[in-house]
Parts: sequence; C-alpha cells; structure tokens
Amino acid sequence: ASEQLVDQFGRQITYLRISVTDRCDFRCVYCMSEDMTFLPRAQVLSLEEIHAIARAFTELGVNKIRFTGGEPLVRRDVVKLFKGVGALPGLKDFCLTTNGSQLPRYAQQLKDAGLTRINISLDSLQEDRFKTLTRTGNLEQVIAGIDAACDVGFKGIKLNTVVLHGRNDDEVVDLVRFAREKKIDLSFIEEMPLGVIAEHDRAETYFSSDQVKALITEQFPLMPTTESSGGPAKYWRMQDSHSRIGFISPHSHNFCGDCNRVRVTAEGMLLLCLGNEHSVDLKAVLRRYPGELERLKEVIRKAMQHKPEEHRFTADGDVQIVRFMNMTGG
Ligand code: GTP
Ligand code: 5AD
Ligand code: SF4
Repeated sequence: ASEQLVDQFGRQITYLRISVTDRCDFRCVYCMSEDMTFLPRAQVLSLEEIHAIARAFTELGVNKIRFTGGEPLVRRDVVKLFKGVGALPGLKDFCLTTNGSQLPRYAQQLKDAGLTRINISLDSLQEDRFKTLTRTGNLEQVIAGIDAACDVGFKGIKLNTVVLHGRNDDEVVDLVRFAREKKIDLSFIEEMPLGVIAEHDRAETYFSSDQVKALITEQFPLMPTTESSGGPAKYWRMQDSHSRIGFISPHSHNFCGDCNRVRVTAEGMLLLCLGNEHSVDLKAVLRRYPGELERLKEVIRKAMQHKPEEHRFTADGDVQIVRFMNMTGG
C-alpha cells in the first residue's frame, strides 16, 4: 500500500493487534478476576468484521498483524479467519499470542494458514505453581503445545513470562535454561495495571526488568543487540545459544516514543494506546455501514490524530486502567 497511517507525533502505525475473543480457558491472576464475566456474543465482532478491519488496516499501510485474546484458539473457526487474513496483500509479519493450551491440536493448521510467529505465555515450570498463577491452566498441556509448535517448524517462537515478585521471580534462570534447551526466544514482562484484580497488590509484586537481568547475568552473560521484533521488547543474546532474551519494561524503560501499534478489542473498539482509555468504536461503523470499507478506512485515518503520546502506568499502581487485559490482548 502506498498510503501510511501517521499520528500527530510523527509515529508511523504499521502494527495492528486484534483481540478475537475476551474468553479464555485460563484465569491468570494478573489478567483476570476469578469470577470473570464475558461479553455476550452479539457484542463481539464476527469473523467477517474482523477480516474487514484487518483488510482496511493493511490497505492503510499496516504490515504486521498479531492476533491475541483472551485466548484466540478457543474461538470457533478462528483458523478460517487466519487463512483469510494471511492472504491479505501487504502483510509481512503475521503473528499469534496464545497461552499454548490448544497448540497440540492447532499447530499444523496455524503453520498452514501462514502464521509466521507465535508467542506463548509461560510463567512457571512448576506444576503446582503454574496452577496457582493460571488458576485453571495445565502445565503439561502447555509444554506439549510448545513442543507441537517447534515440531511443525515454526521459526519465530517466543515465550512470555510476566515476572511477579514473590510468585515466580525465583524461576527466572530456570525459564532461561528451558528456552535455551528448546532453542526459542523468551521475554520477561513487567506487570501492567490493567483491570482491578483482588488477588495480589501490584505494588508488592513489582519486579523490574533490571532485577530479572541481574539474576540472568549471574549464570549467562548477556550481550546487547539492536535486533527488534517490531514490538516493545529490548533483546539480548547469550553465548552458545540461538535464544534471545527480551525485556518488556513498561514501568522502568518507557518505549512509547517509538510506538508503531494500535489495537482492536474483541468488541471492536480501536484503542490508540494500551495504557489509556481513549477509543474509537469501529464495530458501530461496521454495523451501521456494512461492506463500506472506504468509510471504515476514513474513521481509522481520523482516529490516528487521537493517539496519546504515552501511557501513564506507574509501578506503585497509581494509574489504573479499568479494562481487563483479556479485552485488550496485551
Ligand atoms: P512482538 O510484536 O513480536 O514484539 O510481540 P510482543 O512481545 O509485543 O507481543 P505479545 O503479545 O507477546 O505481548 C507481550 C507483552 O508486551 C504483553 O504484556 C503486552 O501487553 C506488551 N505490549 C505489547 N505492546 C505494548 C505497548 O504498546 N504498550 C505496552 N505498555 N505494552 C505492550
Ligand atoms: N501485565 C503484563 N502482561 C500481561 N499479560 C496479561 N496480563 C498482563 C498484565 N497485567 C501478558 C500475558 C501474555 C501477554 C499477551 O500479556 O502473559 O503473555
Ligand atoms: Fe488467558 Fe492470557 Fe489472560 Fe492468562 S493472560 S487468562 S492465558 S488471556
């Protein structure tokens, strides 16, 4: 596409993250409350509507799409959507973020649909602890999912670990070893204050990327790289390993200055920033003017003017976004 989306700070938007469902088979403590209620189906975008949004954005210069959730793979017929989106002209990078539980079943189909990269959440390698952190997750199933993704030949597999002080910070080095053995990448994430969770006090569980890095370098010296996956992670390499270690540090190293992305929630709200409440209702446009792609594109173009300069998260939990993470897909 010759057209480009640019915001008022000169940032070019080339990366779209789409949440295909707010539902999930897990209930991770930092993402959801225990008694989460989900959206009524009529409020969720149809697969056709999601396809139209993806198409509009690729025609506006977006070349990377990541599907997120909730858990994308619990949505019926989602692979059909992936096939359609994978065929859109202009798409260079086509990614999925998943909890891994359904990968034993889906890995091959995802490869066939043209997905290039998969991110899999993994917060613990200890079964009982994994259960505590995800509430309903099963570690064995997720490990089988990671192996399935490796076996079908995905090149870009990355693990995601949200590090919580006192909960899993003692597993940092074990997780690095695991990623090295599997020859895949691993990113450590600072927890963000999305959704009101009662489970823990986010100020108490804060664990900075620098603390994580210090634990790793005791075992594996890290060498800086300028490599980027086009997202917020800063990557480091280790000797004798193909695995890269990434750090996503919304608190300690603000990365908003080179933000290149926007999000669409499961409900069809265009979010210009993860850490702000501002949004534009794309579902309303789609339902009022079905099939009118040019109108949708015009709304998207205009929305870029409202992209905020940066998020306002603080590590002491001061600024709080009401929206839960499963709506946003991270
Ligand atoms: P790549 O696109 O491949 O770089 O992946 P990613 O690591 O950005 O995506 P993933 O879905 O694996 O998300 C990992 C974490 O990064 C999640 O916790 C996201 O919420 C966080 N993240 C991604 N983009 C942003 C952003 O623009 N702002 C903030 N604050 N966090 C982000
Ligand atoms: N803060 C940081 N990361 C989060 N994730 C979910 N909730 C949060 C949060 N509050 C992560 C998941 C997944 C990624 C998409 O977002 O663990 O890896
Ligand atoms: Fe599900 Fe991912 Fe949220 Fe965990 S973090 S409950 S796997 S959407």
